[in-house]
Amino acid sequence: MQIANSREELAQITQQWSDEKLEWAFVPTMGALHQGHLTLVKEALKHYPRVIVSVFVNPTQFDRADDLDKYPRRPKEDAEMLRKAGAHALFLPSVEVMYPNGTNEDRMPDLAGLDTKYEGAARPGHFDGVVQIVRRLVQAVDPKAMFMGQKDAQQVAILKRAALQEFWSVEIQVVPTVREASGLAMSSRNGQLSPQGVDIAATISMVLAKAEKEWKAGGRPRTIEEKGKKTLLSAGFKPEYFDFIDSVTFEPLPDVPESEQHVEKPLIVTVAWLEGVRLIDNWPLY
Ligand code: PAF
Repeated sequence: MQIANSREELAQITQQWSDEKLEWAFVPTMGALHQGHLTLVKEALKHYPRVIVSVFVNPTQFDRADDLDKYPRRPKEDAEMLRKAGAHALFLPSVEVMYPNGTNEDRMPDLAGLDTKYEGAARPGHFDGVVQIVRRLVQAVDPKAMFMGQKDAQQVAILKRAALQEFWSVEIQVVPTVREASGLAMSSRNGQLSPQGVDIAATISMVLAKAEKEWKAGGRPRTIEEKGKKTLLSAGFKPEYFDFIDSVTFEPLPDVPESEQHVEKPLIVTVAWLEGVRLIDNWPLY
């Protein structure tokens, strides 16, 4: 696996692939890799002859300085995991390489308010930072496709919209959330839970699956949402939201049964706190 720290080294690698007429897919990450990330790499390898991964802890998507400081950084372990997974290249830039003229100058696409709800409301400015860095990474890497996880459904919706608005020449491929055998969505945050907390956390996916059943059986979104939140509460969580939404606009679904919905890609999104850890999950209904 080749490693590039600068834009020049990156360009040499992609130029060689281009000369060999090989297309490449890109997996952007902030490192501290887990099975979820490796699944994105494996999925990309199924469809493209070359796969490049970036590991960059992007300062502009953190709304709190202590969160940025605490973010795990283990580039050596990440590189080893990626090599074993079969990635062809790793782009490992510094902040100076990604932001040579500072971080403040970028314009934002019109995100139609997508960036101000749910995760955007919880972390003001977060999605601006995500759009800013992904735009820069896509420009630098210039891949045919970019592979992202369904786990971050709002990030996916925002980047798809930004890509359309700004004519990014990259196809965004969304890979289903990777789950533990218990159903718990994989996340680096799970490591902050006690062993008992990990067991309880599996309840989230059970509640989501039950909500889907109730929806398919003719239930109305608002009623199922209330039930879902109550179940989470009685299992020991502090639910923040549990909502049926349109996964493209992140607007709430109308309160009518499935048979009367016209939304093409409905999704249940939820955040629930357990042992002081903010757990996020979502459940596509399409
Ligand atoms: O999903 C992430 O890890 C990050 O938000 C991303 C897309 C790598 C941008 O920094």
